[in-house]
Amino acid sequence: MEGVIDALTRDLLTQQAGFDWAVTEFVRVVDARLPPRVFYKHCPELSAGSVATPSGVPVHLQLLGSDPVALASNAQQALSLGAISIDLNFGCPAKLVNRHDGGASLLRQPDRVYRAVKAVAEALDGEIPVTAKIRLGFSDRRLAVACAQATEAGGAAQLVVHGRTRDEGYRPPAHWEWIGKVRHQVSIPVVANGDIWTLEDYWKARTLSGCEDVMLGRSALSDPWLAARIRHWQRTGERLPDTTWTMRANVLKRYADLQRRQLPDRVVVSLVKQWLAQMRQGNSEANQHFHRLKRLTDLDTLLNNLIPSTSLCCEPA
Ligand SMILES: Cc1cc2nc3c(=O)[nH]c(=O)nc-3n(C[C@H](O)[C@H](O)[C@H](O)COP(=O)(O)O)c2cc1C
Repeated sequence: MEGVIDALTRDLLTQQAGFDWAVTEFVRVVDARLPPRVFYKHCPELSAGSVATPSGVPVHLQLLGSDPVALASNAQQALSLGAISIDLNFGCPAKLVNRHDGGASLLRQPDRVYRAVKAVAEALDGEIPVTAKIRLGFSDRRLAVACAQATEAGGAAQLVVHGRTRDEGYRPPAHWEWIGKVRHQVSIPVVANGDIWTLEDYWKARTLSGCEDVMLGRSALSDPWLAARIRHWQRTGERLPDTTWTMRANVLKRYADLQRRQLPDRVVVSLVKQWLAQMRQGNSEANQHFHRLKRLTDLDTLLNNLIPSTSLCCEPA
């Protein structure tokens, strides 16, 4: 996820069980073949040979663009650097990206989705798979099935569907039943995405979409153990205990320790607070801690106060 999940975050998240694969932040493709350093920056795992996080979870490289020729050329560049899979982003709702004809803007013209996927599939020539990520449409859902079918016809091996249109942004609800409608019209595996914050959400999303597998976005940051809880339930039918604030705080501490090896403390403070802000979504306890900590500006003070000395501090009066 652009700006919030980099290689360090991928490393920390995938230390918990449950993730089958991870995706890089998107590499923006306009018209030129990008130099290797851009790919290494977005996907440092390319240097690791196996293109996986240190825990061994494969990392897929994501491209975002609209020009089939440029996408194909950059897919080849990524392949030459060792990429194991190319994911194409047709879901980004950012105004700037859409104005420049990227991300979800292509969902208005399924034939352009088709041409982009096909160009990349042909460039990769079966050496590694191409996968795609779409939303349900741009302004409405009329072209949801056509876009999904376009990815399959173009040669995508798998499709992630974020159950909202571009205009719906990140507003709940995600329309899991619509992901099911799309799934019925294609024969490639479909992964459901959007608003899966809890194990209960997973059950509902699975029931309504028919997809066994889901992609976690913001919720993986909010609850780094959610994937493990889902996977454990899939395998055993049992429920792991809920994630506590202490577990979350310890992830933030490890994250800060890793980030401060390469960045100044003032930047690390912002990054820790950014993750903390993500943690409060869908979790009232983390929200209380966010408000308790948000004004601290010194990194050590912030880290020392993550776990309050008295456990009563955040209990309701
Ligand atoms: C800050 C932010 C950055 C994102 N960056 C990307 C990205 O680079 N590539 C991508 O495929 N999706 C990206 N997404 C979308 C998420 O992957 C996901 O599809 C969306 O947030 C819905 O899932 P969720 O409800 O689990 O978060 C981003 C979302 C957010 C909020």
